[in-house]
Amino acid sequence: MARPAERYICQECGAVSAKWSGKCDACGQWNTLSREPSRTGPPGSLHAPIRSSSSSQKLWSSAQGQVIEFTPLAGAAKSDPRWLTGIEEFDRVCGGGLVRSSVLLVGGDPGIGKSTLLLQICAALGEQGHGTIYISGEESVEQLQLRAQRLGLQKSNVLLAAETSLRDILASLESGLQKPPRLLVIDSIQTVWTDTLDASPGTVSQVRACAHELVRFAKKSQTSVIMVGHVTKDGQIAGPRVVEHMVDSVLYFEGERGDRFRILRAVKNRFGAADEIGVFDVSDAGLRTVANPSALFLDNRDKNVSGTAVFAGIEGSRPVLVEIQALVAPSALGTPRRAVVGWDASRLAMVLAVLDARCGLGLAAKDVYLNVAGGLRIKEPAADLAVAAALISSHTDVFVPPDAVIFGEISLSGAIRPVTQMEARLKEAAKLGFSRAIIPNMANLTSSLELTEVDVLATLVDTLGGEPAEQRR
Ligand code: TYD
Ligand code: MG
Repeated sequence: MARPAERYICQECGAVSAKWSGKCDACGQWNTLSREPSRTGPPGSLHAPIRSSSSSQKLWSSAQGQVIEFTPLAGAAKSDPRWLTGIEEFDRVCGGGLVRSSVLLVGGDPGIGKSTLLLQICAALGEQGHGTIYISGEESVEQLQLRAQRLGLQKSNVLLAAETSLRDILASLESGLQKPPRLLVIDSIQTVWTDTLDASPGTVSQVRACAHELVRFAKKSQTSVIMVGHVTKDGQIAGPRVVEHMVDSVLYFEGERGDRFRILRAVKNRFGAADEIGVFDVSDAGLRTVANPSALFLDNRDKNVSGTAVFAGIEGSRPVLVEIQALVAPSALGTPRRAVVGWDASRLAMVLAVLDARCGLGLAAKDVYLNVAGGLRIKEPAADLAVAAALISSHTDVFVPPDAVIFGEISLSGAIRPVTQMEARLKEAAKLGFSRAIIPNMANLTSSLELTEVDVLATLVDTLGGEPAEQRR
C-alpha cells in the first residue's frame, strides 16, 4: 500500500508542497511552511489542498455522483429575509441587515473593538426577541459578563459560552436548544478546533475545516454566523485566503488604537456593495454609530495652514469628505523619507514623480509626509488631485482655499481625468457648506458650487498660485 505522502502547508497562503523549504514557492514568505497530517479526499473537500505548488493533482471521477436538478436562469428569484440589528452603520455595511444563513468574517487588529461590536450586535438582535449566541474562545464567561455590564447590556437576551471545541459547540446548537439561534458569533475562528484533524488550533487546516463546518451549519440551520478572524502583521486575515472565499461577506474593522473612530469596511459582500463603510465613535459605553462621517472627519480642521486639502471621496455607496494633510520638508538624508498614512505609498510616489516631471516642482530631494485625517484609508485614484494640491500647498506655503473640495485622477502625462459619481461628491460638499470645487475638466456639469476645472496638473499649480516658498524668501 502506498505510504501517505507528507505535506507541508504555508501558514500564510495555504499552498501545499510535498517537501519542506524555508521559503514558500507560492507567496514568497519565509518560515511559513509547517508539516500537517496528510489526508486524501476529492478536490474541494475539507482536506483537499487549496492550491498545490506541484502540478500533479488528479481529477476525480464523478461516475457515482447523484443527479442534480438544474434551474432555468429566468426563474423568479426569492431573496433571503434580512434582519436589521438597529445599529445603522453595521446594517449598511451588510447591505441592509443580516441575511438569513449568511456567514460573515470580521477581521481586525487585536484590541480594535471586534468583540465589543459583536456583543453589541448580539444584544441589539436579542432585544428584538431573536435568539443570539456568543461563543468566545478567548475570554471567560465572567469576562464577557463584565464587558456587557460596562456596555450597559447586562440585561440583554444573549446566551454566552466559553468553548473552543467545534464538535461540542455544534452538538449543543443542534440538540441542546429548542430551535437554532438567529445569530451565532464565534470569537474567534483561530481558537476553535475540530478533532477530525491532528493539527493544532489556528493552523491553516484547522481554520479551514472549522470555517467549512460553520458554513454548513449556517446553511442547514438558517442561522447567521459571524466569525472573528485575527489579522496578520501585513493586514490579512490570518489563515488561508480560502476562508475569505468560503464566507458570504468579509468585513474589516480598521482604525488606530488611539483614534476616536473605527471604520468597518466590507471588502467582500455577496449581499451588498463592496467597499461600503460604517463609521463608529469609540466611547466607554461601547461603539456608537456616526450618521454623518464627513462632518466628523472635518471636525477641528485647522483652516489656516498650508499643506491641507479637502478630498470629496466615495466610500461604497456614499460620499465622504476627508482632509488630506501633507508636509514637504528639506531632507537631511541621502534618500529622502516618504511616510504615508491612509493612502497607497506607490500612488504617492507616482503623484510626486508627475509633479516633478510635468510641473518642475523639485520634490525629489524633499522629505514627504502624507496623512489622511481621521484614520480613513482611501483607495480611490480620485484622491490624486487632492493629494497633489496638499503637496503643492505645503511646498509653496500657499493655502488651498479652505472652502474648496478637490477630486480628480492624475495620469502619468499630467492630464486630469474625470472620476465616477462627480455629482454626488459635489452635492455632499454643498451640504457641508463648501462653496468651491476644483475638479477635472468636464463640460456640462452643473452645481451650486463655484467650479474650477483643471485639465492638466500644471493648471492646478497655477490655480493655487504658488511659486516655491524658498524662491519667494
Ligand atoms: P475589544 O472589543 O476586546 O477588541 P478586540 O476584540 O478587537 O480585541 O476591545 C478592546 C478594548 O477596548 C476593551 O478593553 C474595551 C475597549 N473599548 C471601549 O472601551 N470602548 C469601545 O467603544 C471599544 C470599541 C473598545
Ligand atoms: Mg476580542
